[in-house]
Amino acid sequence: MFNAYGILPVNRSVYWIGANDRETDKFEGLWDLPLGVAYNSYFIDDERTVLIDTVKSSFMDDFLYRLNHLLNGRRLDYVVVNHMEPDHSGSLGLLRRLYPEAKYVGNAKTLEMLKNFFGIEDGLVEAKEGEMLDIGERKLAFAFAPMVHWPESMATYDATDRLLFSNDIFGGFGALEGGIFDDEVNQDWAIYEMMRYYVNIVGRFAGPAQKALAKVRGLDVAMICPAHGPIWRNDPSYVIGLYEKWSRQETEEGVVVVYGSMYGNTKIASDVIARTLSESGVKKVSVFDISRSNMSFVTTDIWKYAGLILSSCTYNMELFPPMAALLRLLENKMMKGRKIGLCGSFSWSGAALKEMKAFVDRSKGGWTLVDPAIEFKSFPSDDSLALCESLGRNMALAIKGDAR
Ligand code: FEO
Repeated sequence: MFNAYGILPVNRSVYWIGANDRETDKFEGLWDLPLGVAYNSYFIDDERTVLIDTVKSSFMDDFLYRLNHLLNGRRLDYVVVNHMEPDHSGSLGLLRRLYPEAKYVGNAKTLEMLKNFFGIEDGLVEAKEGEMLDIGERKLAFAFAPMVHWPESMATYDATDRLLFSNDIFGGFGALEGGIFDDEVNQDWAIYEMMRYYVNIVGRFAGPAQKALAKVRGLDVAMICPAHGPIWRNDPSYVIGLYEKWSRQETEEGVVVVYGSMYGNTKIASDVIARTLSESGVKKVSVFDISRSNMSFVTTDIWKYAGLILSSCTYNMELFPPMAALLRLLENKMMKGRKIGLCGSFSWSGAALKEMKAFVDRSKGGWTLVDPAIEFKSFPSDDSLALCESLGRNMALAIKGDAR
């Protein structure tokens, strides 16, 4: 008999059979996972047996034991593929060999990716928006959510139990630590990690996210069952509201100071700006050393707060590379609507301030420059530090009451 370890009931006939990954260091090879990540897969026990999404391939062993236990000799009828990124689809190739009779359900773009990833071309059911998949007591409906996170992304809705299997939408980093429901876990942690997932994985696609949210708003949802992080059953409308706020890039009163400094001289200027912000009444000031911070935490705070200070040295006649990487990422994430202050330094050929100004110019008003833009040579003089204090005071004034 297969081991039932790790099968967690979601309701009378839906079970969590996902995986908690505390081994992967970087999600997508980019984003730090200090607390791991969960790949949530759900089994629906109806007249037809249904699997909603799978797990990363390296976590398939335990997942298969759980699946076999729940099937208890029955056939696996359907595998609903809400998203083809391999953190959810990685097990589909081997699963097809083990359960050749199971039909894979996805939209037209999903079916194309099933062929491209795994060479799977038969035993497929094309999901269409507005049509239902009859599995017995339940009828599953599909809501397409293109670009949240990939073009084929979709959510699956069970109107009988009012469950929304939302995949990446409402998902968060962090392995599940015993609790699988929002009311069983530390809320501060869960919301922060959901925001970090949103900003870094989904954030670029704000327009598509808002379209998906409009569809979700039209559903009567008792529980949101995402593919990462806890199940939201306490007050689903609260997390829907958070997602709406984030997708509109609404900010809170606060300032992020990011500095790049090789020998600490640019750090001195940054610390003076941060101190002046605090003296000017800004309660939420985050300071990051860009050489030592994972981008996912930096971008999350930048998304959250109304003001940003970039302070960087020059490296070989160019902007310090880690700061240049941050600017590329901010452009990729299409962040906008925030105040920005700049401080650049150099010893023999200045480029930092010029390149950071060019970043602001390219945003075509997306970022509003707060004066003064500062540039100093080698070590910040008293005059330069006085300018840093001016920038801190002006930024505090700019963001107060301006957080949208
Ligand atoms: Fe959780 Fe876009 O994958």
